[in-house]
Amino acid sequence: MFHLKDLSKMFIPALWISALALSGGQAFAASAPAGKFTATAKVSSIDEAAAQGAQIFANDTFGTKQTWVPVNAFSSHLMTCAACHTDGGKVEGVTPSGAHLPSLIGAAAKYPKFKAKKHAVYTLERQIVHCVRAGIIGKPPAYNSPEMIDLVAYLTQISKGATMGQQFK
Ligand code: HEC
Repeated sequence: MFHLKDLSKMFIPALWISALALSGGQAFAASAPAGKFTATAKVSSIDEAAAQGAQIFANDTFGTKQTWVPVNAFSSHLMTCAACHTDGGKVEGVTPSGAHLPSLIGAAAKYPKFKAKKHAVYTLERQIVHCVRAGIIGKPPAYNSPEMIDLVAYLTQISKGATMGQQFK
């Protein structure tokens, strides 16, 4: 079971850096070349938006200076979504600090999500903002930006068919 307490611990940048140093970054699989992926505003279907979202997920570094060392690589790369959420976010994992990393298949159906500790309801966009700020240590895309919309389209695509309302008993 994943606890919010572990989350605040794992999202302290200093701990992340030391965890990466200790593990040599071996916990992360290589998948994403670093760089800024610029989404275009013009897409004609949600499938196109989702395809672009997959690219952003794999490649966009959101202006971070935070680096990670992919498996079997000789150099470090800038942080991306894919640095933590490997295989397009379609697999479950464990972060170097030992926190549970959920598979993102079906994740879109879990939102809006109630965060008891904050007495807040997180939308999927709010969760993405959180991951960019606390995980990537980057500048999150604006809520209505093409980048945000494409990421939401991608996460919704890999959640196709998932049951809504799982957060209720
Ligand atoms: C430093 C590692 C890290 C990075 C980088 C990261 N995440 Fe996450 N992400 C996590 C962890 C750990 C969780 C589970 C804890 C939580 O819900 O915050 C998570 C949770 C999520 C969830 C919620 C899953 C659920 O079942 O509720 C989504 C959606 C998500 N991440 C998307 C993204 C996207 C999109 C990016 C890139 C913009 C990203 N993440 C970058 C570590 C990361």
